[in-house]
Amino acid sequence: MKVKKILTSGIILCMCVCLLDACQKEQPEESKKLYVGVACYDQSDTFLSEMLDSMKEQMNDLGDHQFETTLALREAAGSQRTQDDQVKELINAGCNILCVNLVERADPSEIIDLAREHDVPIIFFNREPVPEDLMQWDKLYYVGADAKQSGVMQGELAAAAIQADSQIDRNGDGKIQYVVLEGEQGHQDAIIRTENAVNTLKDQGIVLEKLSYRIANWNRAQAQNQMEQILSQYSNKIELVLANNDDMALGAIDAYEKSNFTRSAFPVFVGIDGTDVGLQAVVDGKMAGTVYNDKEGQAAAMLQLGAALVSGKGMDKIQFENNKYIYLPYLKVTQENVGDFLKK
Ligand code: GAL
Ligand code: CA
Repeated sequence: MKVKKILTSGIILCMCVCLLDACQKEQPEESKKLYVGVACYDQSDTFLSEMLDSMKEQMNDLGDHQFETTLALREAAGSQRTQDDQVKELINAGCNILCVNLVERADPSEIIDLAREHDVPIIFFNREPVPEDLMQWDKLYYVGADAKQSGVMQGELAAAAIQADSQIDRNGDGKIQYVVLEGEQGHQDAIIRTENAVNTLKDQGIVLEKLSYRIANWNRAQAQNQMEQILSQYSNKIELVLANNDDMALGAIDAYEKSNFTRSAFPVFVGIDGTDVGLQAVVDGKMAGTVYNDKEGQAAAMLQLGAALVSGKGMDKIQFENNKYIYLPYLKVTQENVGDFLKK
């Protein structure tokens, strides 16, 4: 008797859950709710923290207009395991879109499995998974920018500065002695940027001599430290510093400013990102130029895609590459046009 009672109540409970589930699926209002869970690899990253600020701002605007919006942000402080747990939490909290900035870009499987189990689409951003992983499920997307383009543009900026000023070849040997400050190992924006910046300089007829290269993980303090070590070895021989991002270019400048060199012995510095501090360094003439990494455009693309995925409307207006990728173009920034970017 007792068993029967338990069984009956079990079945009723089951039916209720099923009905509730069916109910939720039919409710059109549900699709008006955009609950975005953002998982970021490390919030101390300057470029990403500015990008997330822009996303929050744009999300509020979207909330005022078409959608009821919520954004929950988690940062993994550089641990993929932490990020996996955070994604689980975000799904349990009811997020209907996930924006994931992977810690390990080659290690998204656990997150993909979780999202798929709960049918929550994922928009990866900034740290690009390999194509095979993005093919694991049809609700996986990527928003970012083309690393090669940023490298080519950085090379063009450096070449233009060198061609415009013969004094940059300070020792007058017809070669440009350079060093590279590189981002994280294995990141799509590190090696590809370096390779393309260097090749572009060569294509433009600049003869190069590489003195040194160091990894500084996108970080200003690490770059300063690395640059101090390079300086102790090469002293005033360096004529060009190519940095994979603005923060590392600024760290290199910090090292020079702390040293005894006069300004005339400083090399040319070029960065990538166009962060607030990066743009200011271009205004001040400390950096010859930078390449704008369109954080506002990338944040907007994620929200547009997220809104289209939950509402089922507007997917046809989005320009995808290979049905899954959205790449925002980079832009060159010099002292002449930096004003246009400061207003962004
Ligand atoms: C790059 C950016 C770097 C850093 C990195 C983090 O695109 O240029 O500054 O933010 O992403 O993944
Ligand atoms: Ca030289």
